[in-house]
Amino acid sequence: MQVRVLNGPNLGRLGVREPDKYGTATYAQLVATCHAAAGELGVDVAVRQTDAEHEMLGWIHAAADDGAAVVLNPAAWTHTSVALRDACAMLTAPLVEVHLTNVHAREPFRQHSYISPVAAAVIAGCGIDGYALALRWLAGHAGR
Ligand code: DQA
Repeated sequence: MQVRVLNGPNLGRLGVREPDKYGTATYAQLVATCHAAAGELGVDVAVRQTDAEHEMLGWIHAAADDGAAVVLNPAAWTHTSVALRDACAMLTAPLVEVHLTNVHAREPFRQHSYISPVAAAVIAGCGIDGYALALRWLAGHAGR
């Protein structure tokens, strides 16, 4: 199965970005974790990050056209973007929303997600392991 792992704004700064909240694992380590999990699971994965919302929308449109599943960390767009939610609503394969931190234990504005109502599953608070968990669930979910 094809899975796109898509990361939103500021996630390219992992490792130096507020390490007390997001940990010291770098974005390169996040990418390596996804490739390792996908290799074990026999999943065809592409991992990307952008700070540009129009680029993310294009990637979601392409996943919809290709019938690819998506693991999405929408980062701050989680809490702000109706456009991203509308794009995600067009996906035909499952979408898993992932957050490194437990957004429900943080500021009130992080406790609302525009994306969760159109996601099949949500993983929050497991750090970069959440991506491997998402890929494992998608690999088991395929064909159900
Ligand atoms: C995040 C949580 C968001 O609230 C925040 O804006 C991020 C990262 C997370 O992975 O915990 O950029 O999505």
